[in-house]
Amino acid sequence: MTVFKTKENGTLKKTVFVVALVALGSAALAHGGVRNEDVLARMEVMKAIGDQMKIIGAMAKGEAAFDAVAANDALTKIAAQSAQIEPSFETRADDPKSEALPAIWQDWEDFVQLASATETTAEGLIGTVSAQVDLGPALGKLGGTCKACHSKYRK
Ligand code: HEC
Repeated sequence: MTVFKTKENGTLKKTVFVVALVALGSAALAHGGVRNEDVLARMEVMKAIGDQMKIIGAMAKGEAAFDAVAANDALTKIAAQSAQIEPSFETRADDPKSEALPAIWQDWEDFVQLASATETTAEGLIGTVSAQVDLGPALGKLGGTCKACHSKYRK
């Protein structure tokens, strides 16, 4: 039992670490000095998604009290914000502060598919979180979809 628990905690820690990397990134610095409004708008969409991930991540790490309603609410918001990825990136916009790679508009169909993967994954997870142990796997699944896009299309 103890062994199982240790293993589970280890996996959770790893997952939370990965999610922290994905969610935090360089977001704290990214917005300063952005001039292009479309770029700013799409960064806000991403930041909103990242903020919800942090809410879930804090509960997963035990930094915040577990709250199933709040966790499922965060998943609902992630799903809704993810639906905004496609429209907010559709028109190509550039800014020196942007971390978006030009490949987005060269491989637009692929980008759109990755965006919808985040949306459907978040949607599928809504209502599945009923205990703190559900958070790690949920974050792992969702974080994987963020990473799939960031690794290809974000500097
Ligand atoms: C379909 C692609 C795609 C998916 C899916 C995606 N992102 Fe992003 N994300 C981007 C791109 C591109 C940028 C860089 C935008 C820019 O700087 O113009 C970005 C930037 C960010 C930023 C920095 C925003 C800022 O303040 O500048 C955060 C935080 C972020 N993403 C979190 C997430 C999280 C968390 C997920 C998953 C739940 C996710 N993203 C899913 C493409 C994606």
